[in-house]
Amino acid sequence: MTVNVPPLKCQGIKTKLVEWIKDHTILQNNGTWIEPFMGSGVVGFNVRPNRAVFSDSSPHIINFYNAIKQGRITAGIAKEFLEKEGALLRAKGEEHYYEVRERFNKGGDSLDLLFLNRSCFNGVMRFNKKGGFNVPFGHKPERFSKAYITKITNQIKYVTQATSQYDWQFVCADFRKTMSAATQRDFIYCDPPYIGRHVDYFNSWSEQDEKDLYDLLSTLPTKFILSTWHSNQYRTNSAVEKYAYQFTILTREHFYHVGASEKNRNPMLEAIILNYNPMPQMEIELENQLALLEKKHKDDYVVYLPKS
Ligand SMILES: C[S@@+](CC[C@H](N)C(=O)[O-])C[C@H]1O[C@@H](n2cnc3c(N)ncnc32)[C@H](O)[C@@H]1O
Repeated sequence: MTVNVPPLKCQGIKTKLVEWIKDHTILQNNGTWIEPFMGSGVVGFNVRPNRAVFSDSSPHIINFYNAIKQGRITAGIAKEFLEKEGALLRAKGEEHYYEVRERFNKGGDSLDLLFLNRSCFNGVMRFNKKGGFNVPFGHKPERFSKAYITKITNQIKYVTQATSQYDWQFVCADFRKTMSAATQRDFIYCDPPYIGRHVDYFNSWSEQDEKDLYDLLSTLPTKFILSTWHSNQYRTNSAVEKYAYQFTILTREHFYHVGASEKNRNPMLEAIILNYNPMPQMEIELENQLALLEKKHKDDYVVYLPKS
């Protein structure tokens, strides 16, 4: 599967897991895809549902996608902007990056966010206690080459096209509010911040949040997939043991790159937790169905069936 990568990157982006998640998704034709922690949006954007609510607590992400949906940001507008700002970055170096960062933290312009996100260190989004973007410069004054700008504008084109073809809403809200309207027809994909990792202003995540999320998922009539981590070489995610025993848990190994060095590849067992049989269309028993999926996704794939 070719994964369409979105124009904004964020920490914990699921580009490498999209196919795995998509293959286990069950969404009825008339249902709504609900993604309360959209981040970059890469999962839903590749599932391409007819109707979707993409939501996040970060207003910057939501403003950016509403600007695309409403035509305030197009591939052409972004190209012109990145060419102009890219030339200034080439001429003035990091001084220009920090000028744009200050400008964004005062005005919140979505194009400035795009520039920062695509030229900052490690291409992430991180906000300080006051909600200001605080990622340092990525040290590449030549960042906005012609090819790089084309890549970004094609990513914008993909979203422009999808938002004109489908009924997609972008809403800034806490996950509790977004999920409260979910019905049996809908499908929820949850990818909350991982406790103890990636914590920042829009990403603080507490034990209470985790508990509220599982409580909601247990009471809603909606099918869901929840992404989380299962374990790494040092520890196991206690929330999975504590809250997810009643659901089906699938895991597979995923390598996170920290920095540029191959040595810093940290193996992590990723999990998806679901409240249904992932292949009901095939009339064979659950173990066999999962074995088929296991064959396709053969990287260290383990299935834990729900405890009754
Ligand atoms: C791990 S990221 C999602 C990554 C996304 N699945 C992707 O592939 O790009 C988690 C997202 O949850 C958002 N978030 C954090 N706390 C939230 C809350 N209480 N309600 C809604 N969104 C929240 C963060 O702003 C962040 O964008």
